[in-house]
Amino acid sequence: MKGRKPETRLVEAGRRKEWTQGLVNPAVWRASTILFDSVAEMEAANPPREGVLHYGRNGTPTIWALCEALTQMEPGAAMTRLYPSGSGAVAGALLSVIEAGDELLMVDSVYGPTRSLCDSVLKRLGVRTVYYDPLIGADIAALFGEKTRAVFMESPGTHSFEVQDVPAICAAAKARGLVTLLDNTWATPLFFQAMAAGVDLSILACTKYIGGHADLMLGSVTAVEAVGERLERTRRVLGQTAGPDEAWLALRGLRTLDVRLKRHQENGVKVARWLQGQPQVARVLHPALPDCPGHDVWQRDFTGATGLFSFVLDGGDAGARARLIDALELFGIGYSWGGYESLAVPADPVRTATRTQYGGPMIRLHIGLEHPDDLIADLKAGLARL
Ligand SMILES: Cc1ncc(COP(=O)(O)O)c(C=O)c1O
Repeated sequence: MKGRKPETRLVEAGRRKEWTQGLVNPAVWRASTILFDSVAEMEAANPPREGVLHYGRNGTPTIWALCEALTQMEPGAAMTRLYPSGSGAVAGALLSVIEAGDELLMVDSVYGPTRSLCDSVLKRLGVRTVYYDPLIGADIAALFGEKTRAVFMESPGTHSFEVQDVPAICAAAKARGLVTLLDNTWATPLFFQAMAAGVDLSILACTKYIGGHADLMLGSVTAVEAVGERLERTRRVLGQTAGPDEAWLALRGLRTLDVRLKRHQENGVKVARWLQGQPQVARVLHPALPDCPGHDVWQRDFTGATGLFSFVLDGGDAGARARLIDALELFGIGYSWGGYESLAVPADPVRTATRTQYGGPMIRLHIGLEHPDDLIADLKAGLARL
């Protein structure tokens, strides 16, 4: 795998013959009980480890193939573990590195349920969360205190798409021996290499672009060597695992990630640029466009943009926003994103550490694989109704 280009790795990774049995793809290996020939063989399977059948919760070749493929997509990574959803992966990663009495630095533009995890369960367990400005960069060092244990990033931010200076934050954290975590769901390892930027634990909601067809729930955490064992120990005692059907679907999605993401990017940029020119639109928040906070960092660090971004209406209220979204014919109204289809939802960023003023209601679009001219015509008709 070393030296091969990411597109090639997407095709080759995780396809060990002992797991595929000569088929192109591994089968769906379903198991709870694994039968051993003797007590000695059973004992030899302990402790549970990747590649050795032990018990269903500790994986089968379908799971190992996906884990190995995701690890090989992240140069510098040592291992990957799966979780029943992206939110499960966020929880699994955080619980493996944080303890009672610790302080966690959390980006203020984080995905809502991650914020809720910090403000409920982690708080109850004695972890204090300090929210920070997504554009803080190296200045994050000023927030490091005696009790700070970890820094969590999500780049770009949920709804508002601020691109974080991940390398600068990781360098500052590393100098203090802190653990760094990144929700890399938007870019995927194809467009942002988390470990190369200094991240210790990289989280993906595989529910989105890895699956790519809006028909599975799955999360993954990819780890560097230093935190891998803690991640696995925590996963095991929390009983976190993923079903083989989900792993199989995600592995299938992974193989076509490159072509899908490039089309999402092309369509997304075309629609975003068109929106920029519309009188009813005040602002377009798309990392590949200069108006997006952190656009320069995106240009420096990312190799692409995906199909998810927001735009802000020039005035109006939530009622007008709902009328516009309801009028769209090609955009579904629903949670999640990363499938082949376009979606539009109201977006209301929550902030507790920073202030944001957009001057109008915000809409988040996921641009799918439809022809962008059709999507633009649909949006044009919708905007005309305002
Ligand atoms: C950035 C981000 N992270 C994590 C998640 C959670 O993933 P899941 O829905 O699989 O729990 C989402 C879901 O929308 C998300 O947008």
